[in-house]
Amino acid sequence: MIGVFDSGYGGLTVLKELLALLPGYDYLYVGDNARAPYGPRSFESVYRYTLQGVKHLFDAGCPLVILACNTASAKALRNIQQRDLPFLAPDRRVLGVIRPCVEAVSAVTRTRKVGVLGTVGTVQSGSYVLEIQKIDPSIEVYQEACPMWVPLVETNEHEGPGADYFIEKHLRNLLSAAPSIDTLILGCTHYPLLIPKILPLLPPGVQLLDQGGIVARSLQDYLWRHPEMEQRLTRQGLRHFETTDAPAIFDSHASVILQQPVSSRKVTFKE
Ligand code: DGL
Repeated sequence: MIGVFDSGYGGLTVLKELLALLPGYDYLYVGDNARAPYGPRSFESVYRYTLQGVKHLFDAGCPLVILACNTASAKALRNIQQRDLPFLAPDRRVLGVIRPCVEAVSAVTRTRKVGVLGTVGTVQSGSYVLEIQKIDPSIEVYQEACPMWVPLVETNEHEGPGADYFIEKHLRNLLSAAPSIDTLILGCTHYPLLIPKILPLLPPGVQLLDQGGIVARSLQDYLWRHPEMEQRLTRQGLRHFETTDAPAIFDSHASVILQQPVSSRKVTFKE
């Protein structure tokens, strides 16, 4: 199976695109809902929790794990890839969501000014700025942390009128600091659920990057380039869901995001 890890529900927006583009593979999604959100947590905690989730997916037999979480990709991926994998499982792979997005950005922006909206953790890590400037130092990156956006999604309030205040506030902050951006990265996998409220507030000419679609195409490309990994993936069209919190709550949220019935089981990560 392909393992898909997130702090909670946000990674389902990535899984949805993986299922649309690469439906033949088997997937195991695990959400660490009991400890979500990760955004305000320290590097140490996000790294420790993410590593536990990755080991859990490895123990379940996943040779390939996608960190479908920007905060985990920003704060834990590099350490896991460089420090842990060589000892833990040298023949397995862990991929994140930031690098594929950053690679897409330089092809899209014409003003060379790009906005990034993310959790406090992702913004403070500076990962988007560093990675974009590695690819093209002429691109200016403007970031805005939106600490209330994940809680709005996690509490299912993202379609309600209360969400408007926080969405307007952070878009206004970003656009007043960076009036000439032409590309906007939703650097959090929860944020696609806010797109219906974000789009009407964007000035004409600002393009939203679709992170889920980009990650799915990047995985497809990875599997073409790595047939040795592709051949290890099972293909029975299975979808399994696990959560570290209450399955009934997970199922009701997840089925709305995925637009299909979801039946999860509760798991506990080993230390
Ligand atoms: N979905 C996660 C992300 O992409 C973060 C949500 C959280 O704060 O746990 O950053």
